[in-house]
Amino acid sequence: MFRRKKPTDTRDAALQDDFVVVVDESVNPYLVLFHEPAGFRAEQLRGLRNRLVAMNPDGEPKTLVVTSAVRGEGKTVSALNLAMAFAELERQEVVVVDADLRRPSCERYLNLNQRAGLTDVLLGHETVDKALRPAGYRDLVMLGAGTRVENPAEVFSSSRLDQLLHRLKERFHYVVVDTPPVLSSTDAGVLSAAADGTLLVVRLEHSLKKQSRDAWQVLSDTGGNVLGTFVTEVRGQDPDSDRRLAYDPAPEEAE
Ligand SMILES: Nc1ncnc2c1ncn2[C@@H]1O[C@H](COP(=O)(O)OP(=O)(O)OP(=O)(O)O)[C@@H](O)[C@H]1O
Ligand SMILES: [Mg+2]
Repeated sequence: MFRRKKPTDTRDAALQDDFVVVVDESVNPYLVLFHEPAGFRAEQLRGLRNRLVAMNPDGEPKTLVVTSAVRGEGKTVSALNLAMAFAELERQEVVVVDADLRRPSCERYLNLNQRAGLTDVLLGHETVDKALRPAGYRDLVMLGAGTRVENPAEVFSSSRLDQLLHRLKERFHYVVVDTPPVLSSTDAGVLSAAADGTLLVVRLEHSLKKQSRDAWQVLSDTGGNVLGTFVTEVRGQDPDSDRRLAYDPAPEEAE
C-alpha cells in the first residue's frame, strides 16, 4: 500500500503516474465503489446502473440528475457512486457534474482541490474543455461547481445550461448531475427539467415520507422525468450490518 500524506490533488497525480497506487483515506468513506469495489453495497450500485442501462437500450447519451427532498439525504455520495459504477463499463465516457452551487461537495468527497467549474462555464468565463478534470477513478471526469456565486438560481436560468448539457452529451455517454435539495431552492427542479432522467434519493429512517413525496411532485410539476427512488443507508451505518445479505466467495478449502 502506498499512501500520499498531502490531501492535495493526489488523484490527479495518480492518473499521470499510473504505476503509483494511491490509497487515500480522505476520500469519503461511503464512496463504496472506490473503497470496497468487491462489497455488497458496490454490487447494489451496479444493479442500479444496470437497470438504468437497460432503460436505455439504444445507448443514447443521457443526463441523469440525482437529488432529494432536503439536506443530507445522500445525494452527493449516491451521485458519485453511480458515476463510478457507470465508469466501470467499457467504452463508456462518464462525467459527474457538481451542480450544487450552494453546498458543493463532490470535489471534497474525492479529495480534489476546488477549481474553475460549472459556474465559470455557465457565466462564460471558462471553456468546458478547460473546466473538465479527471475525477481520479478510472476514466471518470468531473466538472466541479466552480467559483462561488451569490445567485445560483440566476446562473441556472441562463440558456447556457441547456447548451452545456447538450455539449456534454456530445462527449460523454452518461452525465451524472449532483444537485441541491428540491425543497430548498428551485435549482434541482430546473436541472431535473433539463435532464433526461432524475433519481430521488431517500435516506431510510431519516427522510420524511411527506417531504420525499412533495419533492417527487415538485420535480414532476416542473417537467422532470423522475425515474424512481434510490434508498440509501438501508442497513444503518455499521458496514458489517449487511453481512447477511452479502454473497462473498466461499472461503478456500483447507488443504
Ligand atoms: N449510506 C450512508 N450511511 C451513512 N452515512 C452516509 C451514507 N451516505 C452518505 N453518508 C454521510 O451522510 C452525510 C450526507 O451525505 P451527502 O453529502 O451525500 O448528502 P447530500 O444529500 O448530498 O447532502 P447536502 O444536501 O448537504 O448536499 C455525509 O457526511 C456522508 O458522508
Ligand atoms: Mg450534496
